[in-house]
Amino acid sequence: MTARRNILVTGFAALCAMGVSAQQAWPSKPITLVVPFAAGGPTDVVARTLGASITKTLGQTVVVENKLGAGGTVAANYVVRAAPDGYTFFIHHNGMATAPALYRKLSFNPLTDFEYVSQAVDVPMTLLARKDFPAKNLTELIAYVKANESKINLANAGLGAVSQLCGMMLERAMGVKLQAVPFQGTAPAMNALLGGQVDILCDQTTQTIPQIKAGSVKFYGVTTKNRIKALPDAPTLSEQGLKDFEVLVWHGIYAPKGTPKPIIEKMNAAVRTALKDPEVVKRMADLGAEIAPDSKLSPEGLQTWLKSEIDKWSPVIKAGGTFAD
Ligand code: MLT
Repeated sequence: MTARRNILVTGFAALCAMGVSAQQAWPSKPITLVVPFAAGGPTDVVARTLGASITKTLGQTVVVENKLGAGGTVAANYVVRAAPDGYTFFIHHNGMATAPALYRKLSFNPLTDFEYVSQAVDVPMTLLARKDFPAKNLTELIAYVKANESKINLANAGLGAVSQLCGMMLERAMGVKLQAVPFQGTAPAMNALLGGQVDILCDQTTQTIPQIKAGSVKFYGVTTKNRIKALPDAPTLSEQGLKDFEVLVWHGIYAPKGTPKPIIEKMNAAVRTALKDPEVVKRMADLGAEIAPDSKLSPEGLQTWLKSEIDKWSPVIKAGGTFAD
């Protein structure tokens, strides 16, 4: 072997060894969990609750970083371009599945441009209005909205947000078109609702249950097929006349493409541990969220689910005719 070849072979072996030991030592510094919406909102609450538990398991802090804009696509673009070194992860919901139909020039492919870690929790949504909104129940709301369509606005967190998806489904079910008021998350949208600056908001129970219980908003029902444990007396929208109305939010955890498999496996195990952590289980249950079933907790489970959701929502969104560049 020539001296030059010898140096190259030795150098390559050293680099491989460094890579292996870096993976074995992972994590050796704080991990960033990117959240695509505002701090204090539903996605942020799930991220911080899981992050605190993952921190205990991995012995390194999970730092939540809120990267806002364009219904979650700004954050997804950021994660696609982040180093695949095991120190950047991403939590996102149905928005990963709706973005391809909503955005004409999406610069990432949700199905191929990430590593898939696990699903986490499923979250029902709730239909709310500002406290002094005239309608007392869903029947009155539908009648009022139909009579005052042009004057009523509907807050959401941008194209790709589940609040926008739910709003679009509601408009279709009621046969109206309301004025959309986009925010960078439903935390600021909720503040606007509480302040009376917007009329209606469809938002996840992880943010809305405390407001519903405090009576600071008008509440018309849950968006799930069946009633939920956290709000047992609350009717579904479907049972009140919006037949078959159903929107359920699911959250998945992703990493930049190329993140080493051993790291994905360790993070998957840490997420599974978090989902059994009594503190996480209690907080999620109190906020109406359900831990995702075991079948959705593998990387393959998340990817398969994501594909089925893209197939489900793309034709629905295309029929709605609301798109962005
Ligand atoms: C949020 O965290 O603010 C929400 O998930 C936004 C949304 O999708 O409605």
